[in-house]
Parts: sequence; structure tokens; C-alpha cells
Amino acid sequence: MKNERMKPDISLNELITICRDRLNTMMNFYLKDIPAPELKASMSYSMANGGKRLRPLLIYAAGRAFSATWENLDIPACSVEMVHTYSLIHDDLPCMDDAPLRRGKPTCHKVYGDAVAVLAGDALHTLAIQILADHPATLKPAQRLAMLQVLSTACGPYGMAAGQALDITVLQDPNISSELLEEIYRLKTGALFTACLQLGRLAANNDDEIDQRAMKEFGDLIGLAFQIQDDVLDQEATSEQLGKQQGIDLINNKMTYPRLHGMAKAKERVSDLYLKALESINYLGNRAQLLRELAEVMLVRES
Ligand code: IPE
Ligand code: IPE
Ligand code: MG
Ligand code: MG
Ligand code: MG
Repeated sequence: MKNERMKPDISLNELITICRDRLNTMMNFYLKDIPAPELKASMSYSMANGGKRLRPLLIYAAGRAFSATWENLDIPACSVEMVHTYSLIHDDLPCMDDAPLRRGKPTCHKVYGDAVAVLAGDALHTLAIQILADHPATLKPAQRLAMLQVLSTACGPYGMAAGQALDITVLQDPNISSELLEEIYRLKTGALFTACLQLGRLAANNDDEIDQRAMKEFGDLIGLAFQIQDDVLDQEATSEQLGKQQGIDLINNKMTYPRLHGMAKAKERVSDLYLKALESINYLGNRAQLLRELAEVMLVRES
């Protein structure tokens, strides 16, 4: 795979194509020799095209802002997409959201059964760590360690796992406070987005404090906005547009931002967060163009 630095004026459409190809190459490499056929098939099924690949795109776009190489970015990009896909497989299980449809296809457990789906999620989660630890690239051991710290903090009990646990235990309370609802969104969804921005920065071996703070702020803002927009779309889009069952939050009696505050306020909050996110990366000038365009795609989306 080519390993030159990105050309400065790459367009978002070009990045989307490159990201898809590079991810496919990495994924095929790691999924092709798995010695248990059902596990291999279920992992490949869930990782296959159909997802928007927003998290890898954010990693490449942040890497672009800080001049990382493609090769160094492939590792966190593939790793995070695996963690994200694992989270979706488990999120869809009958004991969680009990969802029938994902990325336009029957969910993993509908095809392979609950037990294999649990294992597919577990295996993708662990494979993500394996790739960060040992996929060949010019990343230094200290960079890999920093990446492992960022990713494990974002997806474990101090991040996504806590958010998902709160989601299934307290999100049915109609009297939930706005603060707690937002905290759950930050944990279950925002933390991984913020990690993507930091991983892009780390792939460039950048430890500038201003950049670190900016990536945190930008990630936190778009992450929260993304989950509110996900709730908006759960009410307003169609299952065909979403590739997942429309209205499932209501079916599961989940409290959501639009249910708590009304649809108009939810949309207003997404726009406010989007504008604040743009401000947080303003100082990067042209270097942040892809991040700006991606934020727009993420938050002004219909699927
Ligand atoms: C869905 O994420 C899960 C949430 C955090 C709301 P995406 O909407 O990014 O899912 P894919 O990867 O495109 O399928
Ligand atoms: C999921 O939130 C967040 C995850 C960490 C998987 P949702 O339950 O709203 O995601 P969708 O709507 O099923 O994609
Ligand atoms: Mg859920
Ligand atoms: Mg769900
Ligand atoms: Mg949802």
C-alpha cells in the first residue's frame, strides 16, 4: 500500500474512496485466516461495506491536518472500525436493543445466532488491540502505547461500555435529567469520536497541547451532536435510509434528546454544537478542511 504523505488538497470524495480501499485491504488481511469458519463469516459479514466509515474518515482527516502518513493512519482506522462494529453487534442483541436490521442487512445475531454474534463482537474488539499492537508500520512503540491508552479508555468502562450500561439501565426513566442524558451520549458515542481525533494526531507523532485540546473539544462536540442527530433520524428517516429499523428507540421505550426536549430544540442543539465544533478547529485554517467537511456530512445527514 502506498505510504506517501497525503497531498494537501485531497477532496472529501477522494478521501472516502481511499479510506474504503485501504480499510478493505487491512480488513481482508486480518479476517482471511481466522480458523473458526462461523466466527470468520460473522465478523466479515458485520465488517463488510454498508457502514459510513465515519470514524476511520475522522482519523484520516485528523491525520491530514497534522501530516501523518497513510500507513500510520491505517492502523488506528482499521482498529477503531473494528471496535465500532463490535459495539454495533452487541448493541443489536436481543438483550440490548433487540434490533433486526443493521447497515441495510439482517443483524449479526439474526444470521449467525446470539452466541456467535457475542463472539464476533468479542473477537473484533480484541483484534482491534492486536492490530494496534503489532501491525507493521513506522509507528514507534511509544506512539502505539499512547494509541492503546486512548482507545481503551474510550471504549472501556470509562467510556463506551459505561455509556451502554447506563443506556440500558437508566434511559427508560422519563424523569431523567438533561445532564445525565447528555453524559450518557458522551460516554456511549462521543468518547470514541474524540478518540479518533486524538488517534489521527498521535499517528503524526504530534504532542502539541493546543492541538490535543482542540481535538478533544472538536470530538466531544461532534460526538454529542452525532448521537442527538441519530435520535432525530430514528424518528424522522425511513428504515431504508437508515439501513436500520426506524423508530426502535420508541419501541424500546428509550428516552432520547428529541423526546425530552422536543424535535425543534434537538435540531437547534445539533446546529449549535456543529458551529461550536467548527470554531474549535478554526485556528488550523486549511489544514482542517476535511474535518470541517466531515463534520457537515455527519451532522447534516439523512442516514
Ligand atoms: C451508529 O453509528 C451508532 C451510533 C453511535 C449512533 P454509525 O451511524 O456511524 O453507524 P455505521 O458505521 O454507519 O453503520
Ligand atoms: C449506540 O446507540 C451507541 C453504541 C455504542 C453502539 P444506538 O443504540 O442509538 O445506536 P443505533 O441507533 O442502534 O445505531
Ligand atoms: Mg443502543
Ligand atoms: Mg441501538
Ligand atoms: Mg440510535
